[in-house]
Parts: sequence; C-alpha cells; structure tokens
Amino acid sequence: MKHMDLNLAIDFATRTIAGEVVHHLAQPRASAGKLELDTRDILIEAITDLDGNEISYDWGDSDPVHGTPLTVFLRAGCAAFRIRYRTSPEASALQWLDPEQTAGGEHPFLYTQGQSIHTRSWIPCVDNPAHRITYSANIQADLPLHVVMAAEAVDTRQKPGEFKFRMQEPIPTYLIALAAGDLAFQSLGPRTGVWTEPSVLDAAVQELRDTESMVEVTEKIFGPYRWGRYDLLVLPPAFPLGGMENPRLTFATPTILAGDRSLVSLVAHELAHSWSGNLVTNATWNDFWLNEGFTVYLERRIVEAVYGRDRSEMEASLGRGRLEDTLTHLGHDHRDTWLFGDLGRRDPDEAISDVPYEKGYLFLRALEESVGRATFDAFLREYFDRHAFAAMTTSAFVEWLETHLLARSPADGVKVAKWIYAPGLPPNAPRAESAAFAQVEAHLAQWRQDHTSLADQVTDNWSAHEWIHMLQSLGPDDSVDDLARLDHQFAFTTSENCEILCEWLKQGIARGYGPAIEAVEPFLMHVGRGKYVRPLYEALDRFGQADMARRIYAKARRGYHAMVTNSLDGTFLN
Ligand code: BES
Ligand code: ZN
Repeated sequence: MKHMDLNLAIDFATRTIAGEVVHHLAQPRASAGKLELDTRDILIEAITDLDGNEISYDWGDSDPVHGTPLTVFLRAGCAAFRIRYRTSPEASALQWLDPEQTAGGEHPFLYTQGQSIHTRSWIPCVDNPAHRITYSANIQADLPLHVVMAAEAVDTRQKPGEFKFRMQEPIPTYLIALAAGDLAFQSLGPRTGVWTEPSVLDAAVQELRDTESMVEVTEKIFGPYRWGRYDLLVLPPAFPLGGMENPRLTFATPTILAGDRSLVSLVAHELAHSWSGNLVTNATWNDFWLNEGFTVYLERRIVEAVYGRDRSEMEASLGRGRLEDTLTHLGHDHRDTWLFGDLGRRDPDEAISDVPYEKGYLFLRALEESVGRATFDAFLREYFDRHAFAAMTTSAFVEWLETHLLARSPADGVKVAKWIYAPGLPPNAPRAESAAFAQVEAHLAQWRQDHTSLADQVTDNWSAHEWIHMLQSLGPDDSVDDLARLDHQFAFTTSENCEILCEWLKQGIARGYGPAIEAVEPFLMHVGRGKYVRPLYEALDRFGQADMARRIYAKARRGYHAMVTNSLDGTFLN
C-alpha cells in the first residue's frame, strides 16, 4: 500500500464519519491473494474495485486491544480498491465535543488522535508505524465549521463546506489527523502559525510567538525542516494530551497558555518530533523510546538555544525527578524500566511512562557528554538525514551507533546495552545542575523555620519552574496550616498556570487542605489532559477521598477522551 484517497463526511448528529477510502498499492498485484487491514469498530458497507465490482472480504477474530483484522481478497492485476464505510460513535480516535466543552460555547468540535493504534477506528488501513503512505483527503462538514488536517490544504474556495488536503511526504498512519470546529488562524512567522477558536486566538499568538525561532534553531543543529509549514492547533481543554506531533500541524492542549510562555517546551517537544518520530519513526511500539527519548533530547537543546541553559537544566531536573518517582513506583528491576519495550499483547498506550522519555534523554545526554557536543550533533544530523522517511528498530539503531559514532569516538563510560536492555538507571547517569533550584530549596528550608523567608523580594523573580520545584519539595512535614499560609500569600488555589495548579492540588489533597480539595472538582470537570486528570484521581483515592473521586468521575467521564477513560475505567473509579 502506497497511497490513499479519503472522501469523508463528518456528521455531528450521529457522531460518525462516513464515506470511503481508496487504497492504492505500490504496484498491481502479480497474482491473486489476500491483504490484511486493521480496523476497530468500523462498519463496512462495500469493498469494490475502481469499476465498482465487488471484492470479497472476511473478518478475523476481534481483540480488545488491537481490534478486528479485515482480510480483503484481491484479484491478479488489482492496483487499487475502494472501501465504503462508517465509523462508530465509540471510535477511539475520535473525540466529539458538545458546544459547552468549547471556549465559544456555540458550536460542536471534533478532533482525532491517532497514536498509538487509534487510526484504525476511523480509517481501515495498515495501522503499523513501520508502514508509510501518502494521502489526499476530501472532507465535508456543516458550515460554519472549519476543517483542518495535519497536511497541506489544497484550494478550498470552490464548494462551501468541503475541505481538501494532501500529504505528499510518506507518513505512518498514526500521524493522520483531522479537527473540525469554529477555528480561526493567525500567522506567527513566515512558515509558522496558530489555529484555535476565535476567543483564544490572541492569547495563543502571544504565548506561541517564539515558534518561528524554534524552527530556525532546530534546523541549524539537526538539519532541514522537511515538512513545509509548521502550524499549531490549540484545542479545547478536553484534549487528552499535552501535545501531539501531527505533521505540519501540532495538536496542543490550551493548558500551555499560562500567560508567561513558561510551558512552551511542549512546542519545542512536538516540533522536535518533525525529526525524531515523523522523519525517523519507531518501527514498532517497543521501540517507542527512539521517538520520545530522542525528542526530549532535541526539546532540551531547542529550549537551551532559545531560552538559555538555566531553563533547560531546570526542565531536565524536573524530568529527572519524575523519572525517579516512576522507577520507585514500578520498581527499579521492572521490565518496563528498560528502554527497549516489551508490550506483548498490551495496549501501547498503557506502557507510556517517563522511562522512554527521560531515561532515553539521559542516555543521549550521556553519549553527548562523552563524545562532545560537536561530534554528537554531526552524528544525529547524519542519522536523521540517512534514515529520513524510514522506520528504525532499536537493534538497527545500536548498530548504526556503533559504526557511525562509537567506532571513532568510543564514549568511555557509556554502556550502551546497559542503558537499553537493562532495568533502572546506570549509576553514572548524567545529572542536571540547577543553581536556581538549590536556591529554592534553601529558601524553603529557611521558611520552614521562620515562615518569613519566602518574602516577595525573594520570590518575585521566580519562574514557573522554580514554583513547581518548590511545590514538589513540600512533604508530609508541611502541615495544613503551612499550606494555608502559602496559599494566603501566593494564591496557588487560583493559579492560572495548570502545571502549578495541578501540583498544588495534589499537595492539598495529600495534606487535607480544604480550599484545594474544593478546587479539584471544577478542574476535573474542565480539563481532560491525562497528565493532570490521572494523578488527581489517584491522589483522591490515596488520601481518603475515593468517594468524592467516584462522584466526580461519574459526571466528568463523558467529557474525557477514550485514551483517558480506557486507563481509568478499570480502576477504583468504577
Ligand atoms: N507523541 C506524544 C504523545 C503520545 C504518546 C500519544 C504515546 C499517544 C501515545 C507527544 O509527543 C508527547 O510526548 N506529548 C506529551 C508532552 C511532551 C512535552 C512530553 C504529553 O502529551 O504530555
Ligand atoms: Zn513526544
């Protein structure tokens, strides 16, 4: 399979997408035979050749994780076939929002989330990251909704309500993405811009104004940006992720709009995937660290180049903290703490943890520190260039690393196999150094003695990162009264920065601080980002508020994406 043509209509009333996909093979079939496609919850109406002759097909056994394979029986000479189908209202890739879940409150909203294996729930296709296709799409939606895709928009002036796109670079299917809603656009630079609901546009433009320079610095270090434009789509708060690196159009949560650009490392991250992930793609989901570990490494390099090393070191230090919590939680010997994954029959979404991200980052940083930055940058640049638009396995990467880097620059002290095929962290793993965080700890220690050492003169210049570090440093010895004092002085309970607010709410739940506990419900009703939602429910359960958690979940569940409900339904909440 090489190319597909999509022709689909979005129907908000039935929460379905219906139409057809034409699959084009790389070459006409030499002989008759079968082809297996991935599907989940898809209703097939007919499969035909391009002349309309029926093609027979058969369903395989359904699997709760992987869906239902669809076998199509193709005749010799067949070069393309057409599937007429419709999606189910439960399609896991699709999130249909009621108008109340949008900023404008007037129009419904739809978006897709393909990674890891959700695209099969809205397009019957070979849904495997090692397999790449180009595509064209013709999408119909009721006016006044606007449709965008992570692809190039082709002239849409002819017919109102019809939107045409094409993706001419071969991509894996998890990167096919679409959204429809009341959307407006503003340019950020010559090849960057932002789409979002009209009432959010000004705030988004302000927050994201460094995007163009991020593209420029990434190109300087890692080679040309090969996707044409780089735009962002800022979605309603129900979006289950921080960001998703859909090509040419990153999808992002509005919770990054903190007002001070403190959370834009997420843009650096999704942009970095334009090299690590979208250009060189993990061949299987067991190789996920090749996407995410490389991307966190690139992300921190971009942040360093645009905002300076103090900031990238603070972010690396926060990342190290999350990784250590994860290692403690899983157990330092757990198989899921290897970089190379072992999913078995599990859902790839379930194995997402800080390990591929932050252990992957530390591994690449260890290599960089050992061979020197100039050598390592040249290595990465060639790696992206030579494997552009191709898939990569962990073992092929190790071989490439050995022949193209380690043969010339031995990287003493970095035991590659120990990093990739063993649990936990090597004892000599690099450590981020943040003088600013050390200061925060010193001030907090002093404040615990005198309750005055966090004077405004001290904290006025603190960045969001320093606040987050301060909040994470609070522990069982800090009493409810201490929390009340801090809240009185710094108003955390009404913080506009979701990262700070979520950290504060977790502390509040753990210490039984009433005002914070009361603020949890409106937050969980409004925000659907898994990174915030899951830990808050867990904290409620752990600290004696399981009933409250169940009550909120029963109300909020309808507004969450399947990625989030899939991971919460099987817990104490149900
Ligand atoms: N590609 C991931 C999101 C993802 C991973 C979706 C696995 C489905 C399965 C994206 O690039 C990502 O890592 N997003 C993070 C933010 C990032 C700054 C660490 C997120 O959404 O929290
Ligand atoms: Zn990522």
